[in-house]
Amino acid sequence: MAVSRFFRRKLLVAEGLEIETGLKRTLSSVDLILLGVGGIIGAGIFVLTGQAAALHSGPAILISFILAGIACGLAAYCYSELASMIPVAGSAYTYAYVAFGEVIAWVIGWALILEFSLGAATVAIGWSGYLSSFLEGLGFAIPPYLKTAFSVSVDGGINLPATLVVLALTWVLSRGIKVSSILNMVIVAVKVTVILVFVAAGAGYINPENYHPFMPFGFNGVVSGAAVIFFAYIGFDIVATLAQETKNPQRDVPIGILGSLGICTVLYLAVAAVLVGVISYTELNVPAPIATALDSIQLGILSPIIKIGAIAGLTTAMLGLLLGQNRIFYAMGRDGLLPQWAAKISPRTGTPYITTWVVGIFVALISGLSPIGKVSELVSIGTLFAFSLVCGGVLILRYTQPNAPRVFKVPFFPLLPILGVLANLYLMIGLPQVTWSYFLYWAILGLAIYLFYGQRHSLLNRAKELV
Ligand code: ALA
Repeated sequence: MAVSRFFRRKLLVAEGLEIETGLKRTLSSVDLILLGVGGIIGAGIFVLTGQAAALHSGPAILISFILAGIACGLAAYCYSELASMIPVAGSAYTYAYVAFGEVIAWVIGWALILEFSLGAATVAIGWSGYLSSFLEGLGFAIPPYLKTAFSVSVDGGINLPATLVVLALTWVLSRGIKVSSILNMVIVAVKVTVILVFVAAGAGYINPENYHPFMPFGFNGVVSGAAVIFFAYIGFDIVATLAQETKNPQRDVPIGILGSLGICTVLYLAVAAVLVGVISYTELNVPAPIATALDSIQLGILSPIIKIGAIAGLTTAMLGLLLGQNRIFYAMGRDGLLPQWAAKISPRTGTPYITTWVVGIFVALISGLSPIGKVSELVSIGTLFAFSLVCGGVLILRYTQPNAPRVFKVPFFPLLPILGVLANLYLMIGLPQVTWSYFLYWAILGLAIYLFYGQRHSLLNRAKELV
């Protein structure tokens, strides 16, 4: 079978990784769906839905969820094809490495820092919002200077709960204590139950007047809302990073990705319909919108349950994002694009402990000091960029590697991946100019680091003669 030397070499490197780290293939498709749902449902639905409805979409947040869901669904198909073709750790970064080569892979890996590290920070801030609101309900108010960053309000100082939870989870990850699939299953059950309770309890209180005006900020607002709320879907790609630990990755990874995305889409639409149906969208720009909605319909008695569910749920979302970041840095270190310490595994715990702590401290600082809105939009732009390149990767590899085995193939080729590229780019355009500026600065910084460091230390450049 004619498979290029480059493609073979990449797989060999990956095989080497498998032997070196001793990753075990234990996960089934059901495990992957549950891990996916565990990682996906988090601050997006519990926090950002309110902001997106209040500031961008209004009640048309429902359409925003559908638009973002379509863009993610198209990307999910493309992820599935690439995961079935290249079933190794590293996700979009590794796919880009194979499809486009090292420079674009670096650019994607750099953009994925926005997805995973800033994503974890955003979830941490949401976690802190729910914790403060839960403690307030019990009569323990956290003072503003300990729960809000100085960049958010003049009374603020540091968001201490967010900082501490990130450091605590980093410690857990550095110890190599994986959230067992049973624990994950329990938390997923709690999250999903809480969401279903909200939908069932709130549905009877929907006031159709709240749906008018449906699009207060016009269609452009709906697209901006979709770009913001896109955050709620992030996490299905974490399933792809687990390809090396899956029993039958070619079959199970696509099922895990598409299954978890499908379940979350249905839940999100139900929550959004109830949320903007029971309370005016204008009142939703708050840290805990679901609890606010319940309070407004005299179902405040359910609020503590929702808050506990959100706190538990956001914890696994954060853990998944931090883990995803560690795996990507690990893969980049393994390829020589980051210093060797990034790929250094502790012999005692079997984890990339230095990477874990560097990431953890960085995320803890961001979550303690930055404002959530700007952070979450940067997360979306980085992820949308990575997703469009993953869709582009499917197109390229079908032409450059036509004979490589693909157990899962994207249907309606080439239409679906082309639409995937366009849908994700379209949502990127919906993001504010300030987000674009930060993104461009980030990309320039990334390219500079590549030119001064990655290019010179890349394993690929040093090892060309080996294959
Ligand atoms: N999708 C994840 C969340 O909403 C990142 O928290």
